[in-house]
Parts: sequence; structure tokens; C-alpha cells
Amino acid sequence: MPISQLLRRPADIIGSADNANHPNIPLPRDLYGPQRKNSRGIEFGERAALSKLVSAIAAERLPASGNIADATEMEANAAVSAARAGFTNWSRTPAKTRAAVLKKAADLLEARAAHFIALLQREGGKTLDDSVSEVREAVDFCRYYAAHGRELFGESKALPGPTGESNALRLRGRGVFVAISPWNFPLAIFLGQVTAALMAGNAVVAKPAEQTPLIAAEAIRLLHEAGAPVSALRLVKGDGRVGGVLVAHPDIAGVVFTGSTEVARTINRALAAKDGPIVPLIAETGGINAMVVDATALPEQVADDVVTSAFRSAGQRCSALRLLFLQDDVADRMIEMIAGAARELVIGDPCDPATHIGPVIDAEAKQRLDTHVERMKKEARVHFAGAAPDGNYVAPHIFELSDAGQLTEEVFGPVLHVVRYRAERFDEVLQSVERSGYGLTLGIHSRIDDTVEDTIERLQVGNIYVNRNMIGAVVGVQPFGGHGLSGTGPKAGGPHYLARFATEQTVTINT
Ligand code: SER
Repeated sequence: MPISQLLRRPADIIGSADNANHPNIPLPRDLYGPQRKNSRGIEFGERAALSKLVSAIAAERLPASGNIADATEMEANAAVSAARAGFTNWSRTPAKTRAAVLKKAADLLEARAAHFIALLQREGGKTLDDSVSEVREAVDFCRYYAAHGRELFGESKALPGPTGESNALRLRGRGVFVAISPWNFPLAIFLGQVTAALMAGNAVVAKPAEQTPLIAAEAIRLLHEAGAPVSALRLVKGDGRVGGVLVAHPDIAGVVFTGSTEVARTINRALAAKDGPIVPLIAETGGINAMVVDATALPEQVADDVVTSAFRSAGQRCSALRLLFLQDDVADRMIEMIAGAARELVIGDPCDPATHIGPVIDAEAKQRLDTHVERMKKEARVHFAGAAPDGNYVAPHIFELSDAGQLTEEVFGPVLHVVRYRAERFDEVLQSVERSGYGLTLGIHSRIDDTVEDTIERLQVGNIYVNRNMIGAVVGVQPFGGHGLSGTGPKAGGPHYLARFATEQTVTINT
């Protein structure tokens, strides 16, 4: 099996707009198969391809981190002005040409997968499994937005009208979009934001997380090589202060942000305080994501799904499980099985293919998580405390809380909080999920249809997963994004996303 097949979703799941509308395509397996705690599940041909991939990754020469300097305020402002000048040409470039740039970018990404995987491992601390998935997701975003964008932005939509008059509605780019992206998906979310904004006909100024600038720089280089004009796509490196300069610029027409709720609020306030046009914000933030498990759930499946949802990627996914509600009749057995599965996870060097859990992003994140773990050791019952090597590693932990209210904010790491509930008090579980104000992901494990349907109906959550794990949304299959404290609602990788980056124009002609 060629390496490229490890990275590719089955035949053009996102290769054309038609296919994109048919989610009934078999999903690819994870690189390590669903039973990650017991076996790798890789077949013989895949093993050979994987070993080639690992050698190719090890041989990659990566740029030195000192190559990119932080932008000054003047440089950040200049980037917006330059992009404003580049907007006119790019927005008039036919949609099919813009789509061709994205498709070319997808081809280049696939061809250079080993390079990007090496960067994700070494700059982002991501495991092989996570890095492969991330390159695949980035490719998916490019192809999906190319296919949808070509359709959406290609032709005006003719509308009915009286005789002697023609009416049409069309979508156009807004102007300069500022794209502010996180370190936890430094390639996929970064490229997802940028390619959506470009496809909609906007010029883009991209500010990646300060922890992962090299991946962003390489991705921008690749987009330029694929044909995105330098005048319409600029990279600005820096921390939150640089983001603040970009957001405050009078010439921006939109902001797309993924990160914390607190920063989303700061951006929202800054935009609202500006004079001039009203600038929209597309925000995807975090969540205190819950999973509810009743006594009818299948214990082995629950254990596997909980471990994947809470601990994969060292819990550094905005979709990750933070709060597990277990019906008390089955809680002891479930906790024992979950702890047993967690015990088998290998923590260590992300470049070692045997590793399940790599480091957290930096020393500050480790410090924050260690402080939380110490607090939980005093305030909660400890069911599992793994051991971590020296460095920025945090081992998986499982704590039992007496009340869900003890967890007041998102803990962005491999820490699972469990709460027991009695069947007759199920309603209180849903109330406590509602009370949190977040609405990103939710897991339900139950074989009772009424329970599942009522829960789905009742809760305003962006992505609900029933009887499976609750991470790893696939582009075009599980459009991703949440409500309330979790974001402004648009779903990345979904059919309505691109329109959020555009304005609409109605043209009426008296013929
Ligand atoms: N989209 C990712 C997932 O679904 C989270 O950011 O896991």
C-alpha cells in the first residue's frame, strides 16, 4: 500500500460537491484502529506503509525556529493594508480559479505529508496518529471548500420576478478577513480558516498561535505556491498583542477565531468598540463537554470511547470529554474498566510511533494542569493517577466529583471528571449540562431511544455523538462548531460555512 493511501480518505469523499453531499461513505479507520488500547489493528500492508512513512518523517529537514520574527505593530498594520489592496483582484478572480488553488494546495499537502507530519510532531508535540489525522483533515478542508465554493460562488442564483425584470442573488467576498488560529490544530484549523476565507473571495491576514509559527509559515508558503496571490494572503506572527492590532485595524471586514471563550469575548468587545462598519466574528471556542452513560450502555465500548474522548491528543482538543455522568448502578464497573484502559496508554516522545500521549503544548499549560490535578486530589475522589515522564507531560487522571458544579471551567488536558447519577434524577444531569452555558460536544451512551431522542432535543449542543467516541469530527461528515459559550455557531467543514465569510448581493435588472 502506498504511503499516500494512509493519508487519504476513501475515493473522493470530498472530491466533488456531489460526493460531499453523501455522507454515507464508509469512514476510514484510524491509523491505529478503534481498539487502540489493546492492539494497533494495522494490517500487514499498512504496517509496511507506516514504517516507510516513519522513515520518511525522520529524514525530514525542518526549518529552524528562529526564522520567523514577531511582527511589530507597524508590520501588522501594513499587512492589513497590503491585503486590502490585494482584495480587489482576488475577489474578482473566478470561483473556479480560486477552487483550483485550493485543490492544488491539497495535492501539495499530500505530496509533502511527511514534512508536515514531522513539523506537527516536533513543533506541536503531536503523536504520529494525531499528526496523520491532522494532515488528512487539512487536505479534506481544502478539497471540501474547493468543491462547495465552486458551486456557491460560481454562478448567481436566478430568482423569480415579474415579466421585464431579471433578479439574481450572488455571494461575494467581504474584504480582509483576519484569521486567528490555535496551537492544538496548527495545520488543520489554520488552513481550514484560511482556505474558507480565501474561497469566499476574501483577502486574508493569518495570525497563528505563537506556539506553532513554523507550521503556519510552511502552510502559507504552500498556499502561495499553489497559486494564492501574496497580495491576498499574508502571515503575521505574534502573540495576543499582535492579534489585538489586527482586530483594531479600520480596514478589516471579518474575523475568524478559534481559541478560548475569554479571548473570543475580548475580540468581540474590540470589534464592537470600533467606529466604522460592523465587523462580524466567527468564533469557535471550548466547552465543558459531557458524556452521559446509562445502565443500558455496552461497558467495553464505553471504556474505549471514554479513553479516546478524554485522553487522545493529551486531552488537548476542544471536543474532548471533560465530564462523564455515569448511572450509579454501573458506575463502579465502568470506572474500573476505564481506569484499566487508561493504564495501558503509553506516554512519551511524540516521534516514537508507540506513543499514545505526547506532551502538552508548553510549560505554562503543564503548570496549569498540575495545579488543577493537585486541587482535585484534595477535593475529589482519585480513581486513577497515571505516571508521566519528566518534561511537559501530564499523565491521565480520573477524579470523581460529588457534584458537576465543582468543575467551573474547561480543563484543557488529560483529566477526566466523573459524576454519578441516579436513574430517576436523569433530568438533573441535563439541567447541569445546560447550566454550564457551553454547547460544543456531547456524548450519549444508551440503548433507550427515548433517552437519546429527548437528550438531543433538549440540549443546544453543536455536535452530539451517540454510542461512539465524541472527538475527531470529519470534514463534510460531522460539520463542527458550537453554541453559547462554545462559539457563534458556524460549522467548519459543513455546507453552510463558506457563506458566513461572504456578503450577499441582489441584482435586479429592468430588461
Ligand atoms: N475538530 C476537532 C474534533 O472534532 C476538535 O477541534 O476533535
